[in-house]
Amino acid sequence: GLKKKEVNVLCLGLDNSGKTTIINQLKPTNAQAQDIVPTIGFSIEKFKTSSLSFTVFDMSGQGRYRNLWEHYYKEGQAIIFVIDSSDKLRMVVAKEELDTLLNHPDIKHRRIPILFFANKMDLREALSSVKVSQLLCLENIKDKPWHICASNAVQGEGLQEGVDWLQEQIA
Ligand code: GTP
Ligand code: MG
Repeated sequence: GLKKKEVNVLCLGLDNSGKTTIINQLKPTNAQAQDIVPTIGFSIEKFKTSSLSFTVFDMSGQGRYRNLWEHYYKEGQAIIFVIDSSDKLRMVVAKEELDTLLNHPDIKHRRIPILFFANKMDLREALSSVKVSQLLCLENIKDKPWHICASNAVQGEGLQEGVDWLQEQIA
């Protein structure tokens, strides 16, 4: 059959935002993990869409591992940045990490697509994707295509819309 185009994606965001849960949902049912634990360092995962074959660097978001992220920036052809929409206290930390990412020499001058998931939309205290977008000042990203989707990774809601957008950007 036709060989799908291979794409490396970096999955970034604070610890507990839902990165691994999202990536797990995108894998075929028979490849999905039953229970998800905090990522140590990073983990390499794969999933396919109709036209693309994604290799995901699912990075740990814990403070002590965040310095690993930048070593993979050169490899990444797309970014999935996950935010816990209910974690108002750490929204400013998420913004700091995003700004550091956007200003990194390996990212700054590249037109790399960024897909944001405003995750945990099922929680009562969750902020809307519009509010998350405002708090992270996403309108200031002018030189890269970006898109934000509200998601519930546990139920798999909102993920397909995001992946469809990402596929369009790359295909
Ligand atoms: P690190 O690997 O430590 O960086 O965390 P992570 O971003 O990979 O988070 P992970 O996928 O391990 O999820 C953290 C916790 O949030 C788990 O208990 C998940 O079940 C839960 N979780 C993930 N997504 C959602 C969601 O959309 N809604 C709710 N209610 N819980 C979620
Ligand atoms: Mg994880």
